[in-house]
Amino acid sequence: MNVHESEKIAGILMSRGLTECNDGEPDVVVFNTCCIRDNAERKAIGQIGRFKQLKKSNPDAVIAVVGCMTQQDGAGFALRRKFPFIDIVLGTSNIEKIGEYVSDALSSRTCRVEIDDDPRPAIVEGVPYHRSSGCNAWINIMYGCNNFCSYCIVPYVRGRERSRAKEDVLAEFEKALSDGYKEVTLLGQNVNSYGNDRGDGYGFASLLEDLAKYKGDHRIRFMTSHPKDMDDRVIDIIADSPNICNNIHLPLQSGSDRILKLMNRHYTRDDYLAIIEKIRAKMPDCGITTDLMVGFPYEDENDFEDTLDMVRRVEWSNAFTFVYSPRRGTPAATMPQVPAEVSKRRIMKLIAEQNSVTRRLSDAYVGNVYKVLCEDAVDKNGKLTLCGRTESGRMVNFNGDPKLVGSFCDVKVTRSQSASLFGTRI
Ligand code: 5AD
Ligand code: SF4
Repeated sequence: MNVHESEKIAGILMSRGLTECNDGEPDVVVFNTCCIRDNAERKAIGQIGRFKQLKKSNPDAVIAVVGCMTQQDGAGFALRRKFPFIDIVLGTSNIEKIGEYVSDALSSRTCRVEIDDDPRPAIVEGVPYHRSSGCNAWINIMYGCNNFCSYCIVPYVRGRERSRAKEDVLAEFEKALSDGYKEVTLLGQNVNSYGNDRGDGYGFASLLEDLAKYKGDHRIRFMTSHPKDMDDRVIDIIADSPNICNNIHLPLQSGSDRILKLMNRHYTRDDYLAIIEKIRAKMPDCGITTDLMVGFPYEDENDFEDTLDMVRRVEWSNAFTFVYSPRRGTPAATMPQVPAEVSKRRIMKLIAEQNSVTRRLSDAYVGNVYKVLCEDAVDKNGKLTLCGRTESGRMVNFNGDPKLVGSFCDVKVTRSQSASLFGTRI
């Protein structure tokens, strides 16, 4: 989400004549911040602090801070107090104004702190992008979130769900294909509730169905799906559409029903397992990934064991694992906290458990041929290596001409090393 929003910020600034600064001192720096966990905020603060020096050597430089961190209660003004050299603080709902404000700051040193707390800001269409994610084009289909998971800051800083009009999404999709992008990833905090706010009965399944009608050599991915909204029709459409990747990111968060209830997730572990069963019945090779959290308030050893048990049962191809981080203003922040050393021990154990699943699944790839979209050529120990993903989302490294970046290759996997796969083009 943030990578794509940065593409938007870059596009807006470039449409005003600014260019990317790859070396030397920049005239404009925009920090697009995240506040999902405390470490994201600390990283942003550390990075912003480093730019005090730039302002000393180039007092005309413009420094802007945007994104989720600024949108928390009172945080925008607190940032400006902490770092008086910041010229612009802009909340999440009016990012389109960044171009105008940067221009003003460059020409007349106008400083601004603008945080709009409207939970349903209108969607602004027609904003230019500077896409910088290789052969993948990100496309937002919706903004915001209505779910209020008790640990999560997103609904507070991104507002309620607002879906883009079908025509706008389809037009952007068509443009991405005609611009040569080979992969499109649909973005939303909860893509499965796309369209619910528009009330015309056109939901995520209908959108996928329409996107699947475009023929050609390209792939469609999407993220993120909330298990409570994953319906059979969506699973059927993915299974029946060759261009929609059999790859689903389905965050579980915790394997304990007690903790899921406290998290306000609205499903049980059995509900989750039933979805997995349906997906695998239709798409046995579907790559399913998840997000897992340890150390949520009240989590005891039994709850944690339930999460480990789900790792063994579901066999996700990959799991993003997090230590719970209290977020000010969310319900979970006022619940009794789990000691840091307990969370640390649990996350290490969780990672080790998932790693052994990943290793086992990786071994099963060896000997088979996969259609891989070559995404990049990277220098590995002085040798250029190509890398790309299978339909299921697994990264494969292989040798070949860097000209192949952006095209589909048939690759036979010859070796696996924990999460990494290696192969040769056939
Ligand atoms: N602490 C830790 N992890 C969190 N996530 C969201 N909020 C928090 C928090 N307060 C994780 C969830 C979510 C992913 C994007 O980030 O697992 O799915
Ligand atoms: Fe946060 Fe839950 Fe919304 Fe995901 S679904 S963004 S975890 S509130």
